Amino acid sequence: MKPYPIILAAGQGTRMRSNLPKVLHPIGAKAMLQHVIDACRDLKGERMAVIYGHGGDQVKTTITDTDIQWVEQVEQKGTGHAVAQAAGHIQDDDDVVIAYGDVPLIRAETLHSLASALQNADLVVLTTQLSKPFGYGRIVRNDDGKVQKIVEEKDADDEIRKIQEVNTGFIAAKGKKLKTWLDAITPNNAQGEYYLTDCVELAVAENAVVDAVICENPMEVQGVNNRMQQAELERAYQWQQVQALMVEGVTMMDPTRVDIRGTMTVGKDVVIDVNNVFIGDVTLGDNVVIEPGCIIENAVIGANTRVKANSVLESSAIGQDCDIGPFARLRPNTVLHDKAKVGNFVEIKKSTVGSGSKVNHLSYVGDTNMGSGVNIGAGTITCNYDGANKHQTVIGDNVFVGSCTQMVAPVEVGSGSTIGAGSTITKNTQAGSLTVARAKQITIKDWVRPIKTQSGDE
Ligand code: UD1
Ligand code: CA
Repeated sequence: MKPYPIILAAGQGTRMRSNLPKVLHPIGAKAMLQHVIDACRDLKGERMAVIYGHGGDQVKTTITDTDIQWVEQVEQKGTGHAVAQAAGHIQDDDDVVIAYGDVPLIRAETLHSLASALQNADLVVLTTQLSKPFGYGRIVRNDDGKVQKIVEEKDADDEIRKIQEVNTGFIAAKGKKLKTWLDAITPNNAQGEYYLTDCVELAVAENAVVDAVICENPMEVQGVNNRMQQAELERAYQWQQVQALMVEGVTMMDPTRVDIRGTMTVGKDVVIDVNNVFIGDVTLGDNVVIEPGCIIENAVIGANTRVKANSVLESSAIGQDCDIGPFARLRPNTVLHDKAKVGNFVEIKKSTVGSGSKVNHLSYVGDTNMGSGVNIGAGTITCNYDGANKHQTVIGDNVFVGSCTQMVAPVEVGSGSTIGAGSTITKNTQAGSLTVARAKQITIKDWVRPIKTQSGDE
Protein backbone atom coordinates (compact mmCIF):
# COMPACT_ATOMS: atom_id res chain seq x y z
CA MET A 1 0.00 0.00 0.00
CA LYS A 2 1.36 3.34 -1.09
CA PRO A 3 -1.54 5.77 -0.75
CA TYR A 4 -1.35 8.96 -2.77
CA PRO A 5 -4.31 11.29 -2.13
CA ILE A 6 -5.18 13.83 -4.81
CA ILE A 7 -7.70 16.45 -3.71
CA LEU A 8 -9.70 18.34 -6.34
CA ALA A 9 -10.16 21.94 -5.29
CA ALA A 10 -10.09 24.01 -8.46
CA GLY A 11 -13.82 24.67 -8.82
CA GLN A 12 -14.99 28.26 -8.59
CA GLY A 13 -18.02 27.77 -6.40
CA THR A 14 -20.07 30.46 -8.15
CA ARG A 15 -23.18 29.61 -6.17
CA MET A 16 -21.53 30.55 -2.88
CA ARG A 17 -21.58 34.17 -4.18
CA SER A 18 -18.41 34.90 -2.30
CA ASN A 19 -14.99 36.45 -2.73
CA LEU A 20 -13.57 33.56 -0.78
CA PRO A 21 -12.70 30.44 -2.81
CA LYS A 22 -15.32 27.79 -2.04
CA VAL A 23 -12.95 25.26 -0.49
CA LEU A 24 -11.88 27.84 2.10
CA HIS A 25 -15.39 28.29 3.46
CA PRO A 26 -15.50 26.87 6.96
CA ILE A 27 -17.30 24.03 8.64
CA GLY A 28 -16.78 24.18 12.39
CA ALA A 29 -14.47 27.19 11.81
CA LYS A 30 -12.08 25.04 9.75
CA ALA A 31 -11.73 25.40 5.96
CA MET A 32 -13.52 22.61 4.08
CA LEU A 33 -10.31 21.80 2.23
CA GLN A 34 -8.50 21.47 5.54
CA HIS A 35 -11.07 18.92 6.71
CA VAL A 36 -10.40 16.88 3.58
CA ILE A 37 -6.62 17.22 3.92
CA ASP A 38 -6.83 16.06 7.54
CA ALA A 39 -8.91 13.02 6.58
CA CYS A 40 -6.51 12.18 3.72
CA ARG A 41 -3.53 12.55 6.04
CA ASP A 42 -4.86 9.60 8.00
CA LEU A 43 -3.98 7.39 4.99
CA LYS A 44 -0.34 8.05 5.91
CA GLY A 45 0.82 8.44 2.34
CA GLU A 46 4.19 10.07 1.81
CA ARG A 47 2.79 12.63 -0.64
CA MET A 48 -0.48 14.46 -1.11
CA ALA A 49 -1.56 16.69 -3.98
CA VAL A 50 -4.13 19.47 -4.12
CA ILE A 51 -5.38 20.60 -7.52
CA TYR A 52 -6.12 24.30 -7.23
CA GLY A 53 -7.41 26.93 -9.60
CA HIS A 54 -9.70 29.74 -8.52
CA GLY A 55 -8.27 31.90 -5.72
CA GLY A 56 -5.11 29.82 -5.74
CA ASP A 57 -2.93 32.26 -3.81
CA GLN A 58 -5.53 32.57 -1.08
CA VAL A 59 -5.89 28.81 -0.90
CA LYS A 60 -2.14 28.29 -0.65
CA THR A 61 -1.67 30.87 2.08
CA THR A 62 -4.61 29.64 4.15
CA ILE A 63 -3.58 26.01 4.11
CA THR A 64 -0.34 25.93 6.02
CA ASP A 65 0.46 22.21 5.70
CA THR A 66 3.99 22.34 4.33
CA ASP A 67 4.09 19.02 2.50
CA ILE A 68 1.26 19.57 -0.02
CA GLN A 69 2.11 19.26 -3.72
CA TRP A 70 0.21 22.19 -5.20
CA VAL A 71 -0.85 21.51 -8.78
CA GLU A 72 -2.50 24.26 -10.75
CA GLN A 73 -5.40 23.62 -13.10
CA VAL A 74 -5.56 26.84 -15.07
CA GLU A 75 -8.80 26.10 -16.88
CA GLN A 76 -11.46 23.87 -15.35
CA LYS A 77 -12.22 21.34 -18.04
CA GLY A 78 -13.66 18.62 -15.82
CA THR A 79 -12.70 16.19 -13.08
CA GLY A 80 -10.66 13.98 -15.45
CA HIS A 81 -8.72 17.00 -16.67
CA ALA A 82 -8.16 18.06 -13.06
CA VAL A 83 -6.61 14.72 -12.06
CA ALA A 84 -4.59 14.66 -15.29
CA GLN A 85 -2.78 17.82 -14.14
CA ALA A 86 -1.15 15.67 -11.44
CA ALA A 87 -0.36 12.76 -13.78
CA GLY A 88 3.34 13.63 -13.74
CA HIS A 89 3.38 13.05 -9.98
CA ILE A 90 1.57 9.72 -10.08
CA GLN A 91 3.90 6.75 -9.67
CA ASP A 92 3.04 3.33 -11.11
CA ASP A 93 2.78 1.68 -7.70
CA ASP A 94 0.73 4.47 -6.12
CA ASP A 95 -2.70 3.73 -4.70
CA VAL A 96 -4.24 6.97 -5.83
CA VAL A 97 -7.19 8.20 -3.75
CA ILE A 98 -9.14 11.04 -5.30
CA ALA A 99 -11.09 13.29 -2.93
CA TYR A 100 -13.09 16.49 -3.35
CA GLY A 101 -12.09 19.62 -1.45
CA ASP A 102 -15.72 20.65 -1.09
CA VAL A 103 -16.88 17.43 0.59
CA PRO A 104 -15.70 18.16 4.12
CA LEU A 105 -17.32 15.44 6.23
CA ILE A 106 -15.56 12.52 4.58
CA ARG A 107 -14.23 10.24 7.31
CA ALA A 108 -10.72 8.81 7.33
CA GLU A 109 -12.22 5.32 7.87
CA THR A 110 -14.09 5.59 4.58
CA LEU A 111 -10.94 6.63 2.72
CA HIS A 112 -9.18 3.66 4.27
CA SER A 113 -11.82 1.21 3.04
CA LEU A 114 -11.65 2.78 -0.42
CA ALA A 115 -7.84 2.46 -0.50
CA SER A 116 -7.77 -1.06 0.91
CA ALA A 117 -10.32 -2.26 -1.67
CA LEU A 118 -7.51 -1.64 -4.20
CA GLN A 119 -5.82 -4.78 -2.88
CA ASN A 120 -8.32 -6.75 -5.00
CA ALA A 121 -9.20 -4.19 -7.67
CA ASP A 122 -7.70 -1.73 -10.13
CA LEU A 123 -10.40 0.89 -9.67
CA VAL A 124 -12.79 1.45 -6.77
CA VAL A 125 -15.61 3.97 -6.69
CA LEU A 126 -17.28 5.19 -3.53
CA THR A 127 -21.02 5.21 -4.05
CA THR A 128 -24.07 6.02 -1.96
CA GLN A 129 -27.84 5.57 -2.20
CA LEU A 130 -29.92 8.71 -2.56
CA SER A 131 -33.72 8.92 -2.64
CA LYS A 132 -33.30 12.06 -4.78
CA PRO A 133 -30.29 11.30 -7.01
CA PHE A 134 -30.87 14.28 -9.32
CA GLY A 135 -27.64 15.89 -10.52
CA TYR A 136 -25.34 13.03 -9.63
CA GLY A 137 -23.53 10.53 -11.82
CA ARG A 138 -25.43 7.22 -11.69
CA ILE A 139 -23.77 3.87 -11.06
CA VAL A 140 -24.71 1.40 -13.79
CA ARG A 141 -24.23 -2.26 -12.75
CA ASN A 142 -24.72 -5.41 -14.83
CA ASP A 143 -26.94 -8.38 -13.87
CA ASP A 144 -24.13 -9.75 -11.71
CA GLY A 145 -24.05 -6.48 -9.81
CA LYS A 146 -20.68 -5.51 -11.29
CA VAL A 147 -20.14 -1.80 -11.92
CA GLN A 148 -20.10 -1.14 -15.68
CA LYS A 149 -20.01 2.61 -16.01
CA ILE A 150 -20.98 5.94 -14.50
CA VAL A 151 -23.39 8.13 -16.42
CA GLU A 152 -23.72 11.82 -15.61
CA GLU A 153 -27.22 13.29 -15.12
CA LYS A 154 -26.91 15.34 -18.30
CA ASP A 155 -25.93 12.31 -20.37
CA ALA A 156 -28.45 9.90 -18.86
CA ASP A 157 -31.69 8.58 -20.33
CA ASP A 158 -34.87 8.16 -18.27
CA GLU A 159 -34.05 4.56 -17.33
CA ILE A 160 -30.61 5.48 -15.95
CA ARG A 161 -32.01 8.54 -14.18
CA LYS A 162 -34.12 6.18 -12.06
CA ILE A 163 -30.98 4.62 -10.55
CA GLN A 164 -30.54 5.75 -6.97
CA GLU A 165 -26.98 4.58 -6.46
CA VAL A 166 -24.76 7.57 -7.25
CA ASN A 167 -21.10 8.39 -7.64
CA THR A 168 -19.81 10.33 -4.62
CA GLY A 169 -16.78 11.44 -6.65
CA PHE A 170 -14.31 9.65 -4.39
CA ILE A 171 -12.37 7.13 -6.43
CA ALA A 172 -9.29 4.99 -5.78
CA ALA A 173 -7.15 3.60 -8.58
CA LYS A 174 -3.83 1.90 -9.21
CA GLY A 175 -1.39 4.55 -10.38
CA LYS A 176 -0.14 2.86 -13.52
CA LYS A 177 -3.61 2.08 -14.91
CA LEU A 178 -5.05 5.43 -13.88
CA LYS A 179 -2.46 7.25 -15.99
CA THR A 180 -3.40 5.27 -19.10
CA TRP A 181 -7.10 5.92 -18.53
CA LEU A 182 -6.52 9.65 -17.97
CA ASP A 183 -4.78 9.72 -21.35
CA ALA A 184 -7.73 8.02 -23.02
CA ILE A 185 -10.54 10.22 -21.67
CA THR A 186 -12.22 12.43 -24.28
CA PRO A 187 -14.70 15.27 -23.81
CA ASN A 188 -17.37 13.63 -25.96
CA ASN A 189 -20.34 14.25 -23.70
CA ALA A 190 -23.16 16.68 -23.02
CA GLN A 191 -20.94 19.07 -21.06
CA GLY A 192 -17.86 18.85 -23.29
CA GLU A 193 -15.79 18.00 -20.20
CA TYR A 194 -13.14 15.42 -19.41
CA TYR A 195 -15.02 13.16 -17.01
CA LEU A 196 -12.94 11.27 -14.45
CA THR A 197 -15.89 8.90 -14.26
CA ASP A 198 -15.08 7.64 -17.79
CA CYS A 199 -12.25 5.66 -16.18
CA VAL A 200 -14.87 3.09 -15.16
CA GLU A 201 -15.92 2.26 -18.71
CA LEU A 202 -12.30 2.25 -19.88
CA ALA A 203 -11.36 -0.14 -17.09
CA VAL A 204 -14.28 -2.47 -17.81
CA ALA A 205 -13.34 -2.51 -21.53
CA GLU A 206 -9.87 -3.81 -20.73
CA ASN A 207 -11.17 -6.34 -18.16
CA ALA A 208 -9.57 -4.51 -15.25
CA VAL A 209 -11.20 -5.19 -11.88
CA VAL A 210 -13.68 -2.48 -10.89
CA ASP A 211 -15.21 -2.49 -7.44
CA ALA A 212 -17.47 -0.22 -5.43
CA VAL A 213 -17.55 0.67 -1.75
CA ILE A 214 -20.93 1.87 -0.53
CA CYS A 215 -21.01 4.77 1.90
CA GLU A 216 -23.94 4.28 4.32
CA ASN A 217 -24.26 7.88 5.43
CA PRO A 218 -24.91 10.26 2.51
CA MET A 219 -24.05 13.30 4.71
CA GLU A 220 -20.47 12.12 4.73
CA VAL A 221 -20.14 12.49 0.97
CA GLN A 222 -22.39 15.54 0.59
CA GLY A 223 -20.71 18.39 -1.26
CA VAL A 224 -21.16 22.10 -0.66
CA ASN A 225 -22.29 24.23 -3.57
CA ASN A 226 -24.24 26.96 -1.78
CA ARG A 227 -24.77 28.51 1.63
CA MET A 228 -27.73 26.29 2.40
CA GLN A 229 -25.67 23.15 1.95
CA GLN A 230 -22.89 24.71 3.97
CA ALA A 231 -25.32 25.40 6.83
CA GLU A 232 -26.71 21.88 6.57
CA LEU A 233 -23.24 20.35 6.84
CA GLU A 234 -22.34 22.70 9.68
CA ARG A 235 -25.29 21.27 11.64
CA ALA A 236 -24.34 17.71 10.73
CA TYR A 237 -20.77 18.36 11.81
CA GLN A 238 -21.88 19.94 15.08
CA TRP A 239 -24.10 16.98 15.76
CA GLN A 240 -21.14 14.62 15.27
CA GLN A 241 -19.06 16.63 17.71
CA VAL A 242 -21.63 16.82 20.49
CA GLN A 243 -22.44 13.15 20.01
CA ALA A 244 -18.76 12.28 20.49
CA LEU A 245 -18.73 14.33 23.71
CA MET A 246 -21.87 12.63 25.02
CA VAL A 247 -20.27 9.26 24.28
CA GLU A 248 -17.38 10.46 26.45
CA GLY A 249 -19.80 11.14 29.28
CA VAL A 250 -20.65 14.82 28.98
CA THR A 251 -24.16 15.93 29.97
CA MET A 252 -25.55 18.24 27.30
CA MET A 253 -28.68 20.05 28.43
CA ASP A 254 -29.52 20.47 24.74
CA PRO A 255 -26.96 19.16 22.25
CA THR A 256 -28.51 21.20 19.44
CA ARG A 257 -27.65 24.42 21.22
CA VAL A 258 -23.89 24.00 21.64
CA ASP A 259 -21.31 24.80 18.96
CA ILE A 260 -17.80 23.45 18.87
CA ARG A 261 -15.41 25.29 16.60
CA GLY A 262 -12.21 23.49 17.42
CA THR A 263 -11.26 20.58 19.62
CA MET A 264 -12.54 19.70 23.07
CA THR A 265 -10.93 17.51 25.67
CA VAL A 266 -13.18 16.57 28.56
CA GLY A 267 -12.96 14.84 31.94
CA LYS A 268 -15.73 12.94 33.66
CA ASP A 269 -19.19 14.30 34.46
CA VAL A 270 -18.86 17.60 32.68
CA VAL A 271 -22.15 19.48 32.30
CA ILE A 272 -22.69 21.86 29.39
CA ASP A 273 -25.82 23.94 29.44
CA VAL A 274 -27.44 25.62 26.43
CA ASN A 275 -26.10 28.27 24.05
CA ASN A 276 -22.43 27.75 24.61
CA VAL A 277 -19.76 28.20 21.96
CA PHE A 278 -16.34 26.57 22.28
CA ILE A 279 -13.57 27.87 20.03
CA GLY A 280 -10.05 26.53 19.46
CA ASP A 281 -8.58 24.07 21.93
CA VAL A 282 -10.66 23.78 25.07
CA THR A 283 -10.04 21.38 27.94
CA LEU A 284 -12.65 20.86 30.67
CA GLY A 285 -11.68 18.89 33.78
CA ASP A 286 -13.89 16.53 35.79
CA ASN A 287 -17.21 17.95 37.01
CA VAL A 288 -16.80 21.27 35.24
CA VAL A 289 -20.13 23.03 34.75
CA ILE A 290 -20.62 25.55 31.96
CA GLU A 291 -23.81 27.51 32.54
CA PRO A 292 -25.79 28.99 29.61
CA GLY A 293 -24.50 31.58 27.18
CA CYS A 294 -20.73 31.34 27.52
CA ILE A 295 -18.04 31.71 24.86
CA ILE A 296 -14.92 29.77 25.74
CA GLU A 297 -11.90 30.04 23.49
CA ASN A 298 -8.54 28.29 23.90
CA ALA A 299 -8.93 27.62 27.59
CA VAL A 300 -8.00 24.96 30.09
CA ILE A 301 -10.45 24.70 32.97
CA GLY A 302 -9.63 22.60 36.02
CA ALA A 303 -11.86 20.09 37.80
CA ASN A 304 -14.97 21.24 39.69
CA THR A 305 -14.82 24.75 38.31
CA ARG A 306 -18.11 26.41 37.48
CA VAL A 307 -18.39 28.98 34.71
CA LYS A 308 -21.61 30.85 35.35
CA ALA A 309 -23.93 32.27 32.74
CA ASN A 310 -22.83 34.69 30.03
CA SER A 311 -19.11 34.62 30.69
CA VAL A 312 -16.48 35.04 27.98
CA LEU A 313 -13.10 33.34 28.40
CA GLU A 314 -10.22 33.70 26.00
CA SER A 315 -6.76 32.08 26.13
CA SER A 316 -6.99 31.49 29.87
CA ALA A 317 -5.79 28.81 32.25
CA ILE A 318 -8.22 28.15 35.07
CA GLY A 319 -7.43 26.02 38.12
CA GLN A 320 -9.66 23.64 40.04
CA ASP A 321 -12.68 24.61 42.16
CA CYS A 322 -12.85 28.09 40.69
CA ASP A 323 -16.03 30.08 40.35
CA ILE A 324 -16.38 32.43 37.38
CA GLY A 325 -19.20 34.78 36.42
CA PRO A 326 -22.00 35.35 35.73
CA PHE A 327 -20.97 38.01 33.20
CA ALA A 328 -17.23 37.65 33.71
CA ARG A 329 -14.72 38.39 30.98
CA LEU A 330 -11.33 36.73 31.06
CA ARG A 331 -9.08 38.06 28.33
CA PRO A 332 -5.91 36.45 26.99
CA ASN A 333 -3.20 35.31 29.39
CA THR A 334 -5.38 35.16 32.45
CA VAL A 335 -4.37 32.54 34.97
CA LEU A 336 -6.65 31.68 37.88
CA HIS A 337 -5.18 29.38 40.50
CA ASP A 338 -7.32 26.88 42.40
CA LYS A 339 -10.37 28.14 44.30
CA ALA A 340 -10.16 31.64 42.80
CA LYS A 341 -13.44 33.52 42.39
CA VAL A 342 -14.21 36.03 39.68
CA GLY A 343 -17.67 37.50 39.91
CA ASN A 344 -20.04 39.55 37.81
CA PHE A 345 -18.90 42.37 35.54
CA VAL A 346 -15.25 41.70 36.18
CA GLU A 347 -12.65 41.94 33.42
CA ILE A 348 -9.26 40.34 33.84
CA LYS A 349 -6.42 40.58 31.33
CA LYS A 350 -2.86 39.21 31.31
CA SER A 351 -2.98 38.61 35.02
CA THR A 352 -2.51 35.89 37.58
CA VAL A 353 -5.01 35.50 40.40
CA GLY A 354 -3.60 33.40 43.24
CA SER A 355 -5.40 30.53 44.89
CA GLY A 356 -8.48 31.40 46.89
CA SER A 357 -8.34 35.06 45.84
CA LYS A 358 -11.60 36.83 45.07
CA VAL A 359 -12.46 39.55 42.59
CA ASN A 360 -16.18 39.44 42.98
CA HIS A 361 -17.79 42.57 41.58
CA LEU A 362 -17.35 45.18 38.86
CA SER A 363 -13.55 45.30 38.67
CA TYR A 364 -10.80 45.59 36.09
CA VAL A 365 -7.59 43.71 36.73
CA GLY A 366 -4.94 44.03 34.02
CA ASP A 367 -1.21 43.23 33.94
CA THR A 368 -1.40 42.14 37.55
CA ASN A 369 0.30 39.48 39.56
CA MET A 370 -1.97 38.75 42.51
CA GLY A 371 -1.03 36.39 45.33
CA SER A 372 -3.29 34.02 47.20
CA GLY A 373 -6.05 34.79 49.70
CA VAL A 374 -6.54 38.30 48.31
CA ASN A 375 -9.89 40.08 48.47
CA ILE A 376 -10.50 42.75 45.88
CA GLY A 377 -13.43 45.01 46.79
CA ALA A 378 -16.16 45.97 44.34
CA GLY A 379 -15.33 48.50 41.67
CA THR A 380 -11.57 48.23 42.01
CA ILE A 381 -9.41 49.11 39.03
CA THR A 382 -5.79 48.54 38.19
CA CYS A 383 -4.75 51.59 36.18
CA ASN A 384 -2.30 49.75 33.95
CA TYR A 385 -2.08 52.13 31.02
CA ASP A 386 -0.51 55.59 30.97
CA GLY A 387 -1.62 56.34 27.44
CA ALA A 388 1.55 54.93 25.96
CA ASN A 389 2.72 51.90 27.93
CA LYS A 390 1.28 49.16 30.12
CA HIS A 391 2.57 48.72 33.67
CA GLN A 392 2.45 45.95 36.25
CA THR A 393 0.58 45.83 39.52
CA VAL A 394 1.85 43.37 42.11
CA ILE A 395 -0.46 42.39 44.94
CA GLY A 396 0.98 40.19 47.71
CA ASP A 397 -0.74 37.34 49.53
CA ASN A 398 -3.67 38.04 51.86
CA VAL A 399 -4.09 41.63 50.79
CA PHE A 400 -7.46 43.27 51.43
CA VAL A 401 -8.36 45.97 48.92
CA GLY A 402 -11.35 48.12 49.90
CA SER A 403 -14.02 48.89 47.32
CA CYS A 404 -13.49 51.41 44.56
CA THR A 405 -9.75 51.48 44.86
CA GLN A 406 -7.51 52.47 41.99
CA MET A 407 -4.01 51.07 41.88
CA VAL A 408 -1.92 53.20 39.56
CA ALA A 409 0.71 50.94 38.02
CA PRO A 410 3.58 50.32 38.33
CA VAL A 411 2.81 49.71 41.97
CA GLU A 412 3.23 47.00 44.59
CA VAL A 413 0.87 46.25 47.42
CA GLY A 414 2.77 44.43 50.18
CA SER A 415 1.45 41.12 51.42
CA GLY A 416 -1.05 41.22 54.26
CA SER A 417 -1.64 44.93 53.75
CA THR A 418 -5.01 46.61 53.79
CA ILE A 419 -6.21 49.39 51.53
CA GLY A 420 -9.09 51.59 52.65
CA ALA A 421 -12.05 51.90 50.31
CA GLY A 422 -11.90 54.62 47.69
CA SER A 423 -8.13 54.92 47.77
CA THR A 424 -5.96 55.91 44.84
CA ILE A 425 -2.74 54.01 45.37
CA THR A 426 0.23 55.53 43.59
CA LYS A 427 3.05 54.37 45.88
CA ASN A 428 4.03 50.92 47.05
CA THR A 429 2.47 49.84 50.35
CA GLN A 430 4.31 47.95 53.04
CA ALA A 431 3.51 44.46 54.20
CA GLY A 432 1.03 44.40 57.04
CA SER A 433 0.19 48.13 56.81
CA LEU A 434 -3.10 50.01 56.36
CA THR A 435 -3.13 52.58 53.61
CA VAL A 436 -5.91 55.06 53.01
CA ALA A 437 -5.43 57.50 50.16
CA ARG A 438 -8.61 59.55 49.81
CA ALA A 439 -9.79 63.02 50.73
CA LYS A 440 -10.67 63.24 54.42
CA GLN A 441 -14.36 63.44 55.21
CA ILE A 442 -15.50 66.81 56.55
CA THR A 443 -18.93 67.59 57.93
CA ILE A 444 -20.55 71.05 58.14
CA LYS A 445 -23.42 71.04 60.54
CA ASP A 446 -26.81 72.63 59.83
CA TRP A 447 -26.00 73.20 56.19
CA VAL A 448 -28.50 75.27 54.27
CA ARG A 449 -28.78 74.47 50.59
CA PRO A 450 -28.83 77.36 48.09
CA ILE A 451 -32.34 78.59 47.22
CA LYS A 452 -33.41 79.15 43.64
CA THR A 453 -33.59 82.87 42.69
CA GLN A 454 -36.67 84.33 40.89
CA SER A 455 -34.66 86.31 38.25
CA GLY A 456 -36.72 85.15 35.25
CA ASP A 457 -34.42 84.11 32.37
CA GLU A 458 -32.30 81.08 33.01
C1 UD1 B 1 -19.01 14.99 -10.15
C2 UD1 B 1 -19.04 13.62 -10.81
C3 UD1 B 1 -20.40 12.96 -10.56
C4 UD1 B 1 -20.65 12.86 -9.07
C5 UD1 B 1 -20.51 14.24 -8.42
C6 UD1 B 1 -20.57 14.10 -6.93
C7 UD1 B 1 -17.68 13.71 -12.81
C8 UD1 B 1 -17.68 13.84 -14.29
N1 UD1 B 1 -18.85 13.77 -12.23
O1 UD1 B 1 -19.99 15.77 -10.81
O2 UD1 B 1 -20.41 11.66 -11.11
O3 UD1 B 1 -21.93 12.32 -8.83
O4 UD1 B 1 -19.27 14.85 -8.76
O5 UD1 B 1 -20.61 15.38 -6.35
O6 UD1 B 1 -16.64 13.49 -12.21
N2 UD1 B 1 -13.15 20.15 -10.11
C9 UD1 B 1 -11.90 20.60 -10.42
N3 UD1 B 1 -11.60 20.90 -11.73
C10 UD1 B 1 -12.50 20.74 -12.73
C11 UD1 B 1 -13.79 20.29 -12.39
C12 UD1 B 1 -14.08 19.98 -11.09
O7 UD1 B 1 -11.04 20.74 -9.57
O8 UD1 B 1 -12.16 21.03 -13.85
C13 UD1 B 1 -13.46 19.82 -8.73
C14 UD1 B 1 -14.52 20.74 -8.13
O9 UD1 B 1 -13.92 21.83 -7.48
C15 UD1 B 1 -15.23 19.82 -7.16
C16 UD1 B 1 -15.11 18.45 -7.79
O10 UD1 B 1 -14.03 18.53 -8.68
O11 UD1 B 1 -14.59 19.77 -5.92
C17 UD1 B 1 -16.38 18.02 -8.51
O12 UD1 B 1 -16.66 18.91 -9.52
P1 UD1 B 1 -18.14 19.26 -9.93
O13 UD1 B 1 -18.11 20.18 -11.07
O14 UD1 B 1 -18.91 19.66 -8.74
O15 UD1 B 1 -18.63 17.82 -10.43
P2 UD1 B 1 -20.12 17.38 -10.70
O16 UD1 B 1 -20.53 17.87 -12.03
O17 UD1 B 1 -20.97 17.72 -9.55
CA1 CA C 1 -20.71 19.05 -7.57
